[in-house]
Amino acid sequence: MATATAISRHANGLGVNERTDNWWAAPLSVLFGLLAFIVYSTWAAMQGNHYSVGMSDGFGGYLSPMYSPLVYILEGVDGGAPLSHALLGAWPAWWPSFIPASPAFLILAFPGAFRFTCYYYRKAYYRAFTATPPGCAVGALPRKTKYVGETGLFVFQNLHRYAMYFAVVFIFILSYDAIMSFFRDGQFGVGLGSIVLLINPILLGMYTFGCHSFRHLMGGRRDCFSCDVRGKVAHGNWSWITNLNQNHQLMAWLSLIWVGGTDLYVRLVSMGVITDPNTWGV
Ligand code: FES
Repeated sequence: MATATAISRHANGLGVNERTDNWWAAPLSVLFGLLAFIVYSTWAAMQGNHYSVGMSDGFGGYLSPMYSPLVYILEGVDGGAPLSHALLGAWPAWWPSFIPASPAFLILAFPGAFRFTCYYYRKAYYRAFTATPPGCAVGALPRKTKYVGETGLFVFQNLHRYAMYFAVVFIFILSYDAIMSFFRDGQFGVGLGSIVLLINPILLGMYTFGCHSFRHLMGGRRDCFSCDVRGKVAHGNWSWITNLNQNHQLMAWLSLIWVGGTDLYVRLVSMGVITDPNTWGV
C-alpha cells in the first residue's frame, strides 16, 4: 500500500524544502502567466484603437471586453466606435495629455481590483512574486519584521467584497455585448467573433459567481441553515455557489486567458490581420 509522508514544517532559507514533487512548477507558471497577461493588457489598453469591429450607429458589432463599457469615445481612431455608443459622450478635454486617450483606462480598474484582491490570486502571486513562501513547506524569503499579513501592508485586500459588486455589474455589461455581437447594423447573424464574445461572459460569470465573497453574500451570514425557509434558501445558494467555487482557480485562469484572447481576436480582425468568418458576408 502506498504511503505518504506528511511534511509539517517550513524549512529555513528561500526554496529550502524536503518535498519530492515539482513544487516550483506552479509558482513559476503563475509568474510567467500573470506577467504575460499584465504586459499584454497594459499594451492593449494603451493603444486606444482597434477595439471594435462593425460597430456603426445601428446596433451590433464586436467590442473588446477590455474597452467595455465605452464611457467616453475619441472619434476618428482606427477600429474605434462611433460617438453614439458612448455612455457620456465625446472624449473629455480634461484628460491629461500624458495618458493615452483610451476608453480602457476608464474601466479596467474595476475588474483589475476584483482580480487583484481575489483570494485565489492572492495565494498565487504571494507565492510566485514575493515567495512568502513559494509553496507549502518550502522556505520563504527571510524577513526581518513580523508578518502582519492583510492587517498591515495588504489591508486593502479587504476591498474584495466591494469590488465584487462591480464585477457582477460587468457580467451584465459583457453579456449585453455578447448579444450585440450577434447583430451587424441591426441585422441578426453569427460570426466566429460572436461565439468568442459569448463564451467570455459565461467564463467570467463562472469565475465571479464562484467568488468566496459572493457565496458569503448569497448563502452566508447565518447561524443556522435548517431553522427556517430563508435558511434553507440560503443553503441552496451556498451549495450551488460552492460547486462553482471548487473550480475557482480553473475559472480564474480560463476567464483571464479568454478576456485577453477576445481582445486579441477583435484587435486582429479590426486591423485586417485575420478575417472573421460570419453570416453577414463582410
Ligand atoms: S475569491 Fe476569487 S473572485 Fe472572490
